Amino acid sequence: MTIRVPAPGRTGSQLEPTAARRRRGVPSALIRDTHQEIPPDILASLDELPCDVFLDHDGRYVLYAAAGAVARDVVAHVGNPVALAIRTEDRDALRRGLARSVGRILADESRTPVDRSRRAYAAVGYVMTPIFRTHGSVGREDLEDATVAIDAIVGMLTGMDSLVWSMVATMSKHLATHTHAINTAVYAVLLGQAMKEFSEDGIRDIARGALLHDIGKNRIPLEILDKPGPLDEHEWRRMREHPSVGHRMVVSALGVEPTYAHIIAEHHERADGSGYPAGTKGRATPFDSRLVAIVDAYDALTSARAYKPAGSSYSALWTMRFGMRGQFDVRVLEALVGLMGGWKALRRADVRSLELTEHARSSGSQAANVG
Ligand SMILES: [Fe+2]
Repeated sequence: MTIRVPAPGRTGSQLEPTAARRRRGVPSALIRDTHQEIPPDILASLDELPCDVFLDHDGRYVLYAAAGAVARDVVAHVGNPVALAIRTEDRDALRRGLARSVGRILADESRTPVDRSRRAYAAVGYVMTPIFRTHGSVGREDLEDATVAIDAIVGMLTGMDSLVWSMVATMSKHLATHTHAINTAVYAVLLGQAMKEFSEDGIRDIARGALLHDIGKNRIPLEILDKPGPLDEHEWRRMREHPSVGHRMVVSALGVEPTYAHIIAEHHERADGSGYPAGTKGRATPFDSRLVAIVDAYDALTSARAYKPAGSSYSALWTMRFGMRGQFDVRVLEALVGLMGGWKALRRADVRSLELTEHARSSGSQAANVG
């Protein structure tokens, strides 16, 4: 492995982050046009670097480690905070590498469940972020990366309680489209497994459909998505199109209709017929779509948005049971209540261990065996 160290007298930890260089007027063309910054933690999740990595040095990027280097060694040599970067054209290679590393991250027993979950969540987040672009289309390779990453989570969450709740404790609860997608998929897998009525393939489809359920929002302007007040008639019409648009986007990218595509089209249908786009009632909407509809609403209610704080689990379940009476499959909703209520104590324990891990990390001590 070739590592070029920073210039004498200027160690990695002393290098100025891009934001600071922007503040002192370094031309942005030198900073971002050709390269994209990458958090060192993201690289640590890989076996080997899928592309060259650069060090930000006085507004110019110098080669720091070449493709093929052992990723953990590379990251171990840099201080924090430090700006590492890759060439812009290597983003897809990095995403592909990260998508394929998720299973290994979650299986790495040398790390705590909380640490594994946080790294896996960050890796899937990096994979998913460019898939949800306003006015963007989605390509076949984007979808393959997404399904590889979520399939790895499905494989590892089966029956592993500490990892399951570490993952839930790690979730970002500030609602962004890609984190909402990951959270919905994780909740959908947990609830699907708890109901014991789905095959392995069925659970995999639930995870994939949940991960991509809102992909049609790529075609909705942010002014509508983030509007704090009620939508007008035109805006509401646009919003109601996103399940069908998302379904078409996925079918067109893959060239065939995947077995999970109907979940994307049906995740806003409601048991009482008040949903959209078709207004199907009760069991006329397939079981897996009814389940994803419930966890979608649960994550939206328990996450913060620009115009609302995050609700508690209790208040979200209360709203879904009483405030939205009749809209959800009662049996699936009761299973979600049981799932969240039954694991409350374990969830608290995992949040505590997450805090302990952060404390150990910030004080520079080893955080082994916490959580
Ligand atoms: Fe949606």
